Amino acid sequence: KRLILIGPPGSGKGTQSPIIKDEYCLCHLATGDMLRAAVAAKTPLGIKAKETMEKGELVSDDLVVGIIDEAMKKPSCQKGFILDGFPRTVAQAEKLDEMLQKQGTKIDKVLDFAIDDSILEERITGRWIHSSSGRTYHTKFAPPKVHGIDDVTGEPLMQRKDDTAEVLKSRLQAFHKQTEPVIDYYRNKGVVAKLPAEKPPKEVTVEVQKVLSK
Ligand code: AP5
Ligand code: ZN
Repeated sequence: KRLILIGPPGSGKGTQSPIIKDEYCLCHLATGDMLRAAVAAKTPLGIKAKETMEKGELVSDDLVVGIIDEAMKKPSCQKGFILDGFPRTVAQAEKLDEMLQKQGTKIDKVLDFAIDDSILEERITGRWIHSSSGRTYHTKFAPPKVHGIDDVTGEPLMQRKDDTAEVLKSRLQAFHKQTEPVIDYYRNKGVVAKLPAEKPPKEVTVEVQKVLSK
């Protein structure tokens, strides 16, 4: 399966991805995670992206298309993939279509994580992540066994620099202006499935499974 997850910041894309990934043996490509890794490693790409990400704006299409193009060449991504956080502009969606056309494949489903903006601040400001694995926790909705510690590795958790109420406003603005048109782009192709992303995580998983088993 070739899947795209689209939704505003905090809608649950990163939370559902590992579950879908395991169930369908797909590779999970999250441009946000890849960019954060580049920022942490201070690569030329990371240095370019850092300021834009901290402001909650989108980095340039060329930059992320380059990352995805490279990542999709991995053997593990040949049978199928989950794109989390990409494409986020119509230009990125068109580029992706071109790439897939060359391989003779196409997107099977776009999962639209539909949720009201008002719920997102609490989700974003309470989020803690284990940066090397991408595992995500929430102080209230998905607390780790020990506060501030990853359940699996015992390593410390951290908060993302863009996870403040202030930066969330810019991220939401970017979502409505630049990313919502991407949902329409795929709706015209008849591949969008809308999910009730405001439900608890387990219920969202059940909805995802319903869509994917069709
Ligand atoms: P990115 O990392 O993609 O961030 P985002 O889209 O803002 O999405 P989030 O990761 O914040 O949300 P999520 O849906 O994954 O939520 P999660 O599951 O963790 O992008 C960051 C930046 O990188 C962008 O701003 C941009 O600068 C740049 N970038 C990335 N891709 C780009 C692209 N293609 N083009 C240009 N720029 C790009 O959940 C959030 C919290 O809620 C967690 O604590 C979780 O435990 C909790 N939670 C999850 N589900 C539920 C639930 N159902 N009920 C209760 N709590 C829940
Ligand atoms: Zn995410």
